[in-house]
Amino acid sequence: MWLLLVLCGSLTVCSAVDRNNFKTCDQSGFCKRHRDMATGASPYVVLLDQLTLDHSKATVPLMNKVTKVQLKLEIWSLKNNMARMRVTEMEPIKQRYEPPVGDVLIGEPAQDSLEKLQLDGAKAVFGFGSNKLRIQAEPFLIEVSTDDVPVMSINHRGLFKFEHYRLKNEGKAEEEAEEGNEEGNGEEGKAEEENKEQPEEEEEEPGMWEETFKTHTDRKPHGPSSVGFDIAFPGFEFVYGIPEHADSVALKSTANTEPYRLFNLDVFEYELNNPMALYGSIPVMLAHNEERTVGMFFLNAAEMWVDIHSNKADKSTFSKLMEFVHGDQDIPQVDTHWIAESGVIDVFLMMGPTAKDVFQQYSSLTGSTPLPPLFSLAYHQCRWNYNDEKDVAQIDENFDAHDMPMDVIWLDIEHTDGKRYFTWDSVKFPHPAEMIANISAKGRKMVTIIDPHIKRDTNYHIHQEAQAQSLYVRDRDGNEYDGWCWPGSSSYLDFLDPKVREFWASKYQPDQYEGSTHDLFTWNDMNEPSVFNGPEITMHKDAKHYGGWEHRDIHNIYGMYQQRATVEGQLRRDPQQRPFVLTRAFFAGTQRYGAVWTGDNTAEWGHLKMSIPMLLSLNLVGITFSGADVGGFFKNPDAELMTRWYQAGAYQPFFRAHAHIETKRREPWLLPDENRDVIRDSLRARYRLLPYWYTLFHAAEAGGSPAMRPLWVEFPKDKSTFGTEDQYLVGPGLLVHPVTDAGATGVSVYLPGTDDVWYDMDTSQRFHGAQTVYVAVKLNKARSRFLIPVFRRGGCIIPQRDRIRRSSSLTYHDPFTLVVALDKHNSAKGDLYSDDYNSFKYQAGAYIHRQFTFEHNKLTSKNLNPAGSFSTPAWIEKIIVIGVKSSPKAVYASVEGTGQSSLEFKYDDTTQMLIIRKPGMGVNKDFDITLS
Ligand SMILES: *[C@@H]1O[C@H](CO)[C@@H](O)[C@H](O)[C@H]1NC(C)=O
Repeated sequence: MWLLLVLCGSLTVCSAVDRNNFKTCDQSGFCKRHRDMATGASPYVVLLDQLTLDHSKATVPLMNKVTKVQLKLEIWSLKNNMARMRVTEMEPIKQRYEPPVGDVLIGEPAQDSLEKLQLDGAKAVFGFGSNKLRIQAEPFLIEVSTDDVPVMSINHRGLFKFEHYRLKNEGKAEEEAEEGNEEGNGEEGKAEEENKEQPEEEEEEPGMWEETFKTHTDRKPHGPSSVGFDIAFPGFEFVYGIPEHADSVALKSTANTEPYRLFNLDVFEYELNNPMALYGSIPVMLAHNEERTVGMFFLNAAEMWVDIHSNKADKSTFSKLMEFVHGDQDIPQVDTHWIAESGVIDVFLMMGPTAKDVFQQYSSLTGSTPLPPLFSLAYHQCRWNYNDEKDVAQIDENFDAHDMPMDVIWLDIEHTDGKRYFTWDSVKFPHPAEMIANISAKGRKMVTIIDPHIKRDTNYHIHQEAQAQSLYVRDRDGNEYDGWCWPGSSSYLDFLDPKVREFWASKYQPDQYEGSTHDLFTWNDMNEPSVFNGPEITMHKDAKHYGGWEHRDIHNIYGMYQQRATVEGQLRRDPQQRPFVLTRAFFAGTQRYGAVWTGDNTAEWGHLKMSIPMLLSLNLVGITFSGADVGGFFKNPDAELMTRWYQAGAYQPFFRAHAHIETKRREPWLLPDENRDVIRDSLRARYRLLPYWYTLFHAAEAGGSPAMRPLWVEFPKDKSTFGTEDQYLVGPGLLVHPVTDAGATGVSVYLPGTDDVWYDMDTSQRFHGAQTVYVAVKLNKARSRFLIPVFRRGGCIIPQRDRIRRSSSLTYHDPFTLVVALDKHNSAKGDLYSDDYNSFKYQAGAYIHRQFTFEHNKLTSKNLNPAGSFSTPAWIEKIIVIGVKSSPKAVYASVEGTGQSSLEFKYDDTTQMLIIRKPGMGVNKDFDITLS
């Protein structure tokens, strides 16, 4: 969060981000140096005669022809249809930061065989799987193809640039050395002569050794260290990913804008539709066309900028590039340029060929989202702040009084004793454990905020211990880094240090965190880190971390380490209970530690609309457990916006309402009755579908597939969906089109798939794909359950629970309903995953996983976990089959362990819906039900 008063006099003075607080590429020396490069300027040559090869890896020197500095280029073939390219310095004077294996990568990626197909001085060709990787010596170029179709091309535009570490006056020394060479070696001298006529790439430029932004000077004691390269995606027009930006899901050309920036920042009142950096960074990009999906992951934790050019989007600017790049203008191509301030070039090429393959490939590298406890997929009620214990009790009671389910009450910074985390305000919250026990008696949980900045107060035990054990980040002079944040003067724990994470984890023990209980979970905010008086509201880049790394090397990974340490703390407190931690800052791998939200949005329609592409971008790159503040954080939403936001949030993975301290109270029951009732319906819709959400999160853990998906993931050949961001899919089976315009009375919904049928969730009306249908969405029409357009996809079976209780944990043993939506061929399939919803026993097989198939008028339930050791009293209370053309004469059930029986049913001609009441079998039984 951000306190308005810190920066502005009042709500009205500040209406948008203060762009002056944040750098442009031109104001960032390394970005400018790379972006200014002329196409083809890269002076590198691959010394192929020195290539060495083992089973899965090729290693070869890459030489800068101007400076003669040599780099080491390594190429691996990896299991799961991937390759890896890493470039480091051959003889570095200083090591470069690479996140330790286990921290971002979950392990050393498994290698596969790299087959040498051709090798001479000019080029090398390797095969891996059905792919080929061709290295051209000069100019340096790597082309990757699948089945001989080119899909990626590195240094295609000749922008590869690697600033080797050097001594401050090395430039001079180099010139002298080169002169020496000339004297000693006639032939090489000649080459030097030729090179000298070109401008020297590595010459001193302003900003290499020191850089000032506003009042802050970055000393850069190690000088320039940036790395950059370009990668083209031939045959592709659409690229996605590289969150976090408040921008479209299909990435835009940056020909006439700033590059997309990846630098975790606390941006006050962020603007929409621009490539400015936000709270988190995931340097992963996907490219998709009708034939395939591929992806790349640039493993680098430093500040990064990404330029995107598309020959389709920028016809005029692109023709200039064509002077260098000879290609067919009719074949689409996206060229991307990646620029990082330090670190190495470590790029994973994910060869797909489907989106789901790319999700699986990326999760094999960085892990997937572990199955969250069920309560965390339910509804969360947050506000800055719930003021005291009485306030909390009233919120809790009001949800019951208004018959609205709710699982978690959140406390923001004001709950602490003067922003000292792990403490409570003794006047407002004198009995925290009792308060938590009171809400947990209804199955509810609590979350408190715990930020990484520590108040520099010698009476505060965390500060005392942090000082005594030397746990803080240091400034460039070696003193404890001292910055301004919520508590005033603060220091920042150095979460890169395993000892600090250990310290932090120990603080969640009930005897350490007084007033905490097993039902208390955590929210890590401000962990970009936010430093109110720091450059760009964050930490100085020349601050120093564990291992001697500068903040510039690790900036984007800092927040992830805090969230990880928090997870470790919860696991230590409750080894048998799944943790829940929400974070604002994130990096590649964050998906392993919990949920992410899109930070401090605003109560405006544009922000509601933007929440969809922002969440889709996160979902495409591993962060499926994500959401946007429902209602908008800043400013006051009117009743209509509030209602529409609940309707959207109910169908997004992380569902939390939140509000700024200066906004009016906006709990659902404070709205006009009509809105309140619609919000209740939305909450109930969420709870009804929790079994489906939970099943989707099981699949996300198993295969990395996101719960929330762009349409093209399921309809990869339908080009009209490639830029779609006003609607999306929840899993394979639900299409959701939130209403994001004030006063909307109807929306146009595109139902994809020429072979698909869709059913309006509300009316069960059947539609054929592919077509656009107009759906009336007037808010005050006769209330029905689903007021935003939600469609069931024919062919999908979705489990749900129709009994809505106060919280999700009261539903663990409740019966299920199966909704079978038939496709064109009168068939459907789906699954149900269920377990104890809270522990790790599922990892040892204590879960049920049923596969449901409807074919030839018969619904079958098959056990996908026959060795499973989980038993549940839950049973199936209803089966709804939608799209049944005529009434069956009879419905028979045959259940494992019992005989055949005839079932009661009801058929409705107009809706073509068959309802089988009380089939009654245990959900963990094999059964089939026949319509005859
Ligand atoms: C807990 O609930 C009891 C019973 O309603 C109430 O008397 C007590 O004040 C509550 N405690 C807190 C801290 O809210």
